[in-house]
Amino acid sequence: MQKLNVPGPKAKKILAQDRKHVSPSYPRAHPLVMSHGKGTEVWDVDGNRFLDFASGIAVVGTGHAHPKVVKAIQDQAEKFLHISSDFYHAAWADLSERLSDIAPFSEDAGVFLSNSGAECVEAAVKLARNHTGRSQFIAFLGAFHGRTMGALSFTASKSIYRSGFFPSMPGVFHAPYPDTYRPLLASHPGEDYGETVIRYIEDQILGRLVPADEVAGILVEPVQGEGGYIVPPPGFFPALRKLCDRHGILLIDDEVQAGMGRTGKMWAIEHFGVEPDIVTSAKGIASGVPLGATIARKSVMTWPEGAHGNTYGGNPLACASALATIDLIEDEYMQNAAEVGEYAKDALEEIQARHKSIGQVRGLGLMIGIDFVKDQTTREPAAAFRTRVENHAFEHGLVTLGCGKSTVRFAPPLSISKAEVDEGLQILEYAISLTEKE
Ligand SMILES: Cc1ncc(COP(=O)(O)O)c(C=O)c1O
Repeated sequence: MQKLNVPGPKAKKILAQDRKHVSPSYPRAHPLVMSHGKGTEVWDVDGNRFLDFASGIAVVGTGHAHPKVVKAIQDQAEKFLHISSDFYHAAWADLSERLSDIAPFSEDAGVFLSNSGAECVEAAVKLARNHTGRSQFIAFLGAFHGRTMGALSFTASKSIYRSGFFPSMPGVFHAPYPDTYRPLLASHPGEDYGETVIRYIEDQILGRLVPADEVAGILVEPVQGEGGYIVPPPGFFPALRKLCDRHGILLIDDEVQAGMGRTGKMWAIEHFGVEPDIVTSAKGIASGVPLGATIARKSVMTWPEGAHGNTYGGNPLACASALATIDLIEDEYMQNAAEVGEYAKDALEEIQARHKSIGQVRGLGLMIGIDFVKDQTTREPAAAFRTRVENHAFEHGLVTLGCGKSTVRFAPPLSISKAEVDEGLQILEYAISLTEKE
């Protein structure tokens, strides 16, 4: 398999310029200096071609530069770029109606638009406080909800995110996420591990730390993303819904990474037969144009005029891009994510059977994690091994990103073909073999 010369001379020049001027806080994965992209393929400035199994952190669901998305943005750009959220325009109203129609609850929705995942989480947290008149929250270990001060207080995937930034927002209690591969809690005989986690919340958090009638919301990812692409067991969400109903707590479903068709359904929570009260969406919603949406049941979106707003909310380019994106997801890519996702998971399980270094392959649709272990029995995460696999893959033309302690995420555009899956997985397996020989 051919090794690329990366970074090449043009890339090196830009990397040097970048290092001089760009904030050093960004966690960079690979020295990929992008020139352009088409679907699942990207090219760097030296002409190297890569397959993209990361999609800009699960953002370009419709693939790079989908012509229909590009056209929608161009058409809107010719009319106007901005008017501010003090005024009105059609694409904003259309998108809000569309999101209300596809929201994963039967009730009508109210929609608040912003510019990113963190911002739509901030809006959800503020809305939950405003609506319930309560101040406390529950979130999960391993969670990622963003890096702004409010969202950061819920994020609990790596302590580096908090280092140097304390104090965080008070009133957020963390429970273990229902990770059946590496459970932190002991289940009763025959108990679904998701129910074990809910029992822990009820007995330990609500019983010992915070009265239930002071809890505004429980913020949860339907499939944990940055934490390791962890799919909860079937009992978790039904038990969580019941807990919320028992205590008048809002169930806030963070679909920023798992939503917009990625798992083969529009919203990942639809796999679990439960309706949330508030949904947050960003990343895949607008194919790369920054957009966040906080979608709440109409009966929950009760905050008054002036309570929350922003300059760019309902940005016309983002709305136009999101409308074209949702069309494509509904018409073909959600179905493709389900079908090609199954195909890829089967292929990854075949690879797993040939490599002891893979502890688990897990996921839904095109949100699949490949978890590397030092030992299949102890399941000890092989963090450095995972990073070497990713680096070898990159040097042979495959872009991936890690998540959790030792997982490679498979999160390609939802438009990916089976042939592209085959090509990329061949590189990935080669990278695993190289790493195993080191
Ligand atoms: C589930 C989830 N919520 C929120 C965020 C924050 O999004 P952003 O980086 O756009 O602020 C992320 C980003 O990875 C995420 O995965």
